[in-house]
Amino acid sequence: MIEAKDLRGRFNDWPRAGSRVYRAPGRVNLIGEHTDYNDGFVMPAAIDFHTWVAIAPRTDRTISVFSENFQEAVRFDLDDPAPQPKRHWSDYVRGVALALEQSGYRLRGAQLQIRSDVPIGAGLSSSAAIEVATGYALLHHSGFDVEKVELARLCQRAENDFVGVRCGIMDQFISCQGEKGKALLLDCRSLEYKLLPLAKATRLVICNTMVKHELAAGEYNKRRAECEEGVRHLARRGDDVKTLRDVTSAQLESDSRDLPDIIYRRCRHVISENARVLQAAAALERGSVAEFGRLIDESHRSLQQDYEVSCAELDLMVNLANALPGTYGARMTGGGFGGCTVNLVLDEAVEEFKTRIARDYENTTGITPEIYVCETTDGVKEVVSG
Ligand code: GLA
Repeated sequence: MIEAKDLRGRFNDWPRAGSRVYRAPGRVNLIGEHTDYNDGFVMPAAIDFHTWVAIAPRTDRTISVFSENFQEAVRFDLDDPAPQPKRHWSDYVRGVALALEQSGYRLRGAQLQIRSDVPIGAGLSSSAAIEVATGYALLHHSGFDVEKVELARLCQRAENDFVGVRCGIMDQFISCQGEKGKALLLDCRSLEYKLLPLAKATRLVICNTMVKHELAAGEYNKRRAECEEGVRHLARRGDDVKTLRDVTSAQLESDSRDLPDIIYRRCRHVISENARVLQAAAALERGSVAEFGRLIDESHRSLQQDYEVSCAELDLMVNLANALPGTYGARMTGGGFGGCTVNLVLDEAVEEFKTRIARDYENTTGITPEIYVCETTDGVKEVVSG
């Protein structure tokens, strides 16, 4: 992980003279998976992996952007009447610029340099981090006050409409509004949120399985469609059901005969997961780590069995974690089909946990995992002026 003070020495010409530097974090979701696009509840935390954007003015309406990670430069014109996505990292930058302009923010031309240490494709929201850091930098640079909830919405729009991924609001929201030492309980319908203190004697340990199965994107959209199908069935009874957020477990059970089994199980995951998030928030507020951990375990089982978005490597990582001393809870985090697990581990057990889980996972799969003992961090902000 990179510190702001290290950046100047670390890259050639970083940041260029006259640049301002901003950074936005990645995230881990503690509980509340596949609920955001169902208007439900989520509980992510911002973690100390960041995307950094250095921005300097240009006199025209061009955005030129250099990625330190890909060692590649791209430029585009803010006045291009029909920008098209290219399935390229620069789509995030271009999509955000477009979403901002379309909602009335006239941007100034700029030179951007981007660097990220958020593991790419690991389910820790490297996309949201680049979107939010870029959006914040572009708005600030163009003289606008940044309203962070609005920024999160516009970054989500960029990802939905330009990049072409139908994600919910969770990742962009936490990258904007995270706070060090806190988890964030978010109501994805109203966008009301509450910051909750994380237990002091525990650490969040993220285990990267280092696999990403091809079907992830297709299955994500399929799950969304299955949830929508569930809503269509459940709304027929005349109740006011707009999303699965509006359905209780009792209603689901009483309507279960009318639902195809697979749709029933998808709905059961979402409805029970929403309830778990609220219980988990109450547990955190009471300081009940054991209860919080139990809910994390239940969430994994529901994702594995009802929502079917886990995979062999994630299940293995969770089982290995549960066999180790000091583990309160373990589950997959993010969209699924690979990526990472999140583990709530007793502080003094962390060193042993790291060593043993890495060894056991590698012994079984032949894959060397990456284990990150995380610090939580703040949402997007400016880090250096100069
Ligand atoms: C991805 C999406 C999020 C959310 C999670 C699943 O990370 O970007 O919006 O839907 O999957 O909880």
